[in-house]
Amino acid sequence: MIILSIDTSCDDTCIAILEIKKKKIKVLSNIVSSQVDIHKKYGGVYPSLAKREHEKNLVPVLKQTLQKAHNKKKFKKPDLIAVTIGPGLDPCLWVGLNFAKSLSLVWNIPLIPVNHIEGHILANFLLKTSLNFQKLLPAICLIVSGGHTQLILIKKIGNYKIIGETRDDAAGECFDKTARILGLAYPGGPSIAQEAEQFSISDSQISIKLPRPMIYSKDYDFSFSGLKTAVLYDYKKRSKKIRTSQKYISAMAKEIQQTIIDVLIKKTIKATKDYKIKNIMLGGGVIANKELQRQFKEKIKKEIPNSLLLIPDSNLCTDNAAMIGIAGYLNKNKASKDAQKIKVNSNLRI
Ligand code: KG4
Ligand code: ZN
Repeated sequence: MIILSIDTSCDDTCIAILEIKKKKIKVLSNIVSSQVDIHKKYGGVYPSLAKREHEKNLVPVLKQTLQKAHNKKKFKKPDLIAVTIGPGLDPCLWVGLNFAKSLSLVWNIPLIPVNHIEGHILANFLLKTSLNFQKLLPAICLIVSGGHTQLILIKKIGNYKIIGETRDDAAGECFDKTARILGLAYPGGPSIAQEAEQFSISDSQISIKLPRPMIYSKDYDFSFSGLKTAVLYDYKKRSKKIRTSQKYISAMAKEIQQTIIDVLIKKTIKATKDYKIKNIMLGGGVIANKELQRQFKEKIKKEIPNSLLLIPDSNLCTDNAAMIGIAGYLNKNKASKDAQKIKVNSNLRI
């Protein structure tokens, strides 16, 4: 079976082709056309511009995806199309959905609507080639992206329960907003990670201690908006000479990154212990952070050594369509009788 999948939920135009053969899954191509240079000057995603770029990009990205997947071999019509219908930016989602509807109509193949967050969860299954995914469940999954920070209990594929989530900003949003305060480029996560790497012990002359919001609360919720305010206060109280210095920026970047890492790890381990679950899955753009991955592995080994930690490859943590393809395949029984009636839902919940 060949699955063509599409995601235009935010500022990346993503199309992938997956092949399922003899109970094995293979990503034949996974193309992401990033709009980051366009949105950089606004310090965030500008929805009407993102929509226009998706409209321009979808056909060339489809061409590139098909070429890569078939590698000069004869074109094979897909058996199924999977498309993200939410959550995300409403105008962007509609562009992807309408493109998918046209292909489904012309090729006369089923169209499966996919929840973007389920895609981030199921990206973990692309680590394995075998389709025997149920053996990785139950699991606790931490999804951390630009719009979401959620802890999800997964009993079975399709059976998800949000046990905790952010009460205000998402962790990725916090990276993006604090990077902007420091004058760093969008997206803020990779910029802060890069600055944090520049930190050296001599920079510790600049002492910065940010609060760890809700780290000891009894629930599994998060809150990141206070962290952004704390960064702004610290920044404003420094002289211009200090706050624009490399030493200050790298010390602050390191502290922001460490604060977010501390809270995410603490709550995930607490949920894993409280629910007596063995497997932990991570997903979403923030999980691409290498320091976060290193500390997750270290803490889990120390505190819950019998656990299995799954982390998708970095290009499968950030937005991509391969994750939508696997989610579409696992939801193939949900094919709508009338694909043309499918609608987007920008606030779709898991
Ligand atoms: O999942 P994603 O690609 O898109 C959404 O669905 O939102 O996540 C994007 C978020 C952005 O906030 C970005 O700053 C963050 O992921 N991000 C990172 C890193 N790479 C991307 N945050 C921290 N470290 C990174 N290396
Ligand atoms: Zn995402």
